[in-house]
Amino acid sequence: MMALQTKLKDRSLLGLKELSRNEIESILDRAAYWEGQEQKLVPVLEGKFAANMFFENSTRTRFSFEMAQKRLGAQVLNFAAAASSVEKGESIYDTVRTLESMGIDAGVIRLKPAGVLQQLAETVSVPLVNAGDGNNEHPTQGLLDLYTMRKAFGELRGLNVAIIGDVLHSRVARSNLWALQKFGANVRFCAPPNMQAPELAEHAAYVSMEEALRSDVVMMLRVQLERHAEGMLKSAEHYREQYGLTAERASRLNRNTVIMHPAPVNRNVEIDSEVVEGPQSLIFPQMSNGVPIRMAVMERAMKL
Ligand code: CP
Repeated sequence: MMALQTKLKDRSLLGLKELSRNEIESILDRAAYWEGQEQKLVPVLEGKFAANMFFENSTRTRFSFEMAQKRLGAQVLNFAAAASSVEKGESIYDTVRTLESMGIDAGVIRLKPAGVLQQLAETVSVPLVNAGDGNNEHPTQGLLDLYTMRKAFGELRGLNVAIIGDVLHSRVARSNLWALQKFGANVRFCAPPNMQAPELAEHAAYVSMEEALRSDVVMMLRVQLERHAEGMLKSAEHYREQYGLTAERASRLNRNTVIMHPAPVNRNVEIDSEVVEGPQSLIFPQMSNGVPIRMAVMERAMKL
């Protein structure tokens, strides 16, 4: 029984910091396999139940997990905090334990606070997949970002990746940092002083906007207004002038440089609208790549 429990825990995906390079690589390779499948439905998870538990809003992550689960033939339960007993005061722990006791085989979970997921994973007996926890990690976003870069450049070693914007509040920046460094990519940050994460400075240097724009990958981050203390952002126009990927700045990029953004995008704040769909942008391909990545992650979590 104990061995089975340990095996189930190994199928959880809580973050990329703790995942080995080999494990990350095998997920990316499996995603490539799924992307190459012509049939939309390959029911390897038939008879399994997955619960998507979102305690914070989502469009891309929630729908691409559901798409991935359904393409693999799993039964899907969707839970949104706003329409649940959380509104009556039920805790995250009791909610997850409730779904676990009904017999789900895996849970995908998005949480507002950082640090809660680890505790939950230690308590429940089903694999949990992190769909974003506070500003800690967003591992499937990091995986789809690596997958997108690997497709664009062939390999990650030596790739210069600039992550620009609201690093302080970004779980995407953290998951990318931890994973990219395992593959020998050079990660640098660029952020206004009040949006820098001081604890990350020992892992990646903060550089100027001009320096950041000389990278192979320019990854723009959303300004996370909902997480800001009052007065953090002087104005959207001021931010765009200082740190936005404007059409003028984009026109000066090396022609092999690719532009990424996890989305949702604040158009004309951190990135100009015309740049989002410009020829160097991989923003929509990132969203497409989220499906095979999440197929690989759900298969790893649920297939016995
Ligand atoms: N990139 C991302 O996590 O988007 P959602 O918040 O819409 O899931």
